[in-house]
Amino acid sequence: MKIRNFVIIAHIDHGKSTLADRFLEVTGTVEKRLMKEQYLDQLESERERGITIKMAPVRMKYKDYVLNLIDTPGHSDFGYEVSRALAAVEGAILLVDVSQGIQAQTLANFENAKKSGLKIIGAVNKIDLDLAHVDEIIDDLANLIGVDRGEIIRVSGKTGQGVEELLDRVIEEVPSPKLMSKLWVSNTHSRALIFDSLYDDHKGIIAFVRVFDGNFAPSQGIKFLATGVEVKIKEVGYFYPKLKSSSGLTNGEIGYIATGIKEFGKIKIGDTLLRSDAIGVGEGQALPGFKNPQPVVFVSFYPEESDDYENLKQALAKLRLTDASLNFEPDTSEVLGRGFKGGFLGRLHFEITAERLAKEFKINTVHSFPSVSYKIIKNKKEILITNPKDFLSDFDEVLEPIVKVEIITPSEYLGRILSLKEFFRFENFETINLGKKLLVTAKLPLADLISDLDDKLKSLSAGYASLSYEIIGYKKGDLEKLEILIADHLVAGLTRILPKEKIQREARQTVERLKELLPKQQFVQAIQAAVRGKIIARETIPAMKKDVTGYLYGGDRTRKMKLWKKQQRGKVRLKERAEGGGNDIRIPASIFKELLKK
Ligand code: GTP
Repeated sequence: MKIRNFVIIAHIDHGKSTLADRFLEVTGTVEKRLMKEQYLDQLESERERGITIKMAPVRMKYKDYVLNLIDTPGHSDFGYEVSRALAAVEGAILLVDVSQGIQAQTLANFENAKKSGLKIIGAVNKIDLDLAHVDEIIDDLANLIGVDRGEIIRVSGKTGQGVEELLDRVIEEVPSPKLMSKLWVSNTHSRALIFDSLYDDHKGIIAFVRVFDGNFAPSQGIKFLATGVEVKIKEVGYFYPKLKSSSGLTNGEIGYIATGIKEFGKIKIGDTLLRSDAIGVGEGQALPGFKNPQPVVFVSFYPEESDDYENLKQALAKLRLTDASLNFEPDTSEVLGRGFKGGFLGRLHFEITAERLAKEFKINTVHSFPSVSYKIIKNKKEILITNPKDFLSDFDEVLEPIVKVEIITPSEYLGRILSLKEFFRFENFETINLGKKLLVTAKLPLADLISDLDDKLKSLSAGYASLSYEIIGYKKGDLEKLEILIADHLVAGLTRILPKEKIQREARQTVERLKELLPKQQFVQAIQAAVRGKIIARETIPAMKKDVTGYLYGGDRTRKMKLWKKQQRGKVRLKERAEGGGNDIRIPASIFKELLKK
């Protein structure tokens, strides 16, 4: 069998999924009548937002070759998906949109593919747009990869132009898979790398694998190296892109192995699968695997309906199978009840997770303000804080995570980008000339990045500037904890850590916003913002005049009962639950949602 394994990598929206559609058509993988745009973006959130979140493998037949393609996401927050896909293939198509040119994620993805030792094929996409500077962009891409400009392929995912030429180049240039193990003597040395998974009610956990040595077939015993779990293979097969069973998977192939395992957490992404009869072959059998991604943004999730807690737990465990970067642990809030604190790879990652819980599992959640982790130094001891409410008010020093950002922008927007210094704590701005574009690098606290830097950058550059980032360490910050009290009760879910210079403004905005949002009660409510116990901003909500049933007079008892019943039900529902210990302070959960809006 002649096999080529490759990924398509690009900046967000440069047309990976649309190009993959054309591949599916040219190779006859998906019937024409079943074809829909961005076919490989199967998740509801992907289709609605028009972005790829998950990598998607597909097996195609072209000429006398088997082509295994993995489509990858473009946004920085989903870089872990890309890195796992890179470990399963030998080649990459680096795609650049001719209306945009090289962008921040083009560079980041190129560097990663190079580090993974992949053969990189450059292609410019959307050439149907007939733009004047196509040649320039071809030169830029050729320079980046280090090839002649003649080697860059011109394609249009829209019209299909150049698509077959690109597949021919994949066949010619991407190396065929090799046996990995020097020790390989027989099929008892069969190994596979697990690069993704999903859960199926009948087949249990389905591991997405790349076979590196030997072969795997149904009913064989297999062993997971890291977890030590042993099972019999239930089914193996390929992605067409829907799962289709086959009689076996052999060296170099990408496919799936259904394990029958029903307990989540029993398999680990990045683990190596061995055949059970390979036991005793010796240590050092593990394939390189993946570095566990470090969560950088922390948010607590609570079910909107408190009886959804168990469902939420199950849903998160299932999501974790398809999103190996997701971390969560139980968390409780007086107002929002029992929930989970999640660790995410960025703000979009957290937003998508909340959306997937609502769409795929029908669980609506309420969440706290997204926070980063802080290191507090007190009496020479370091304390890691991932929940703002645990932030101490007494410490010697506090450190916060810092990122290095790379912004690629047409030069005319440089002035506006520099003006962002007013709102974001940028440092070490540097610019490098890239022809008509500039590469701007700078450092800033991660907390600022996750506020809304991406959106601000897009709006001030009419969408032309792009950003990628990486965490480079921790740095001393001038930070304080802002606490909110309502009718003298501390509302822990509203606690935030902020730079000192911003705290007064944020405190004022928060109390004003709460005054607008909070319902009136039968008593006067004070809304206060405090730093180290000192009130720095205050608003007052006057008392309301009548009770709920007041307007119904004495006579209409059934209406009254209905209202009271409704109120009773409402009490069970989290939306109506109160914080602060007493029954008198009500903070509807919807207010948390409102406050979180940018
Ligand atoms: P992410 O997965 O979110 O990173 O996006 P992507 O790289 O998969 O891009 P996608 O295929 O979703 O395309 C982005 C937009 O560009 C869509 O609106 C497509 O219709 C459009 N598009 C893609 N290819 C072409 C092309 O060749 N020509 C033109 N004119 N538009 C294209």
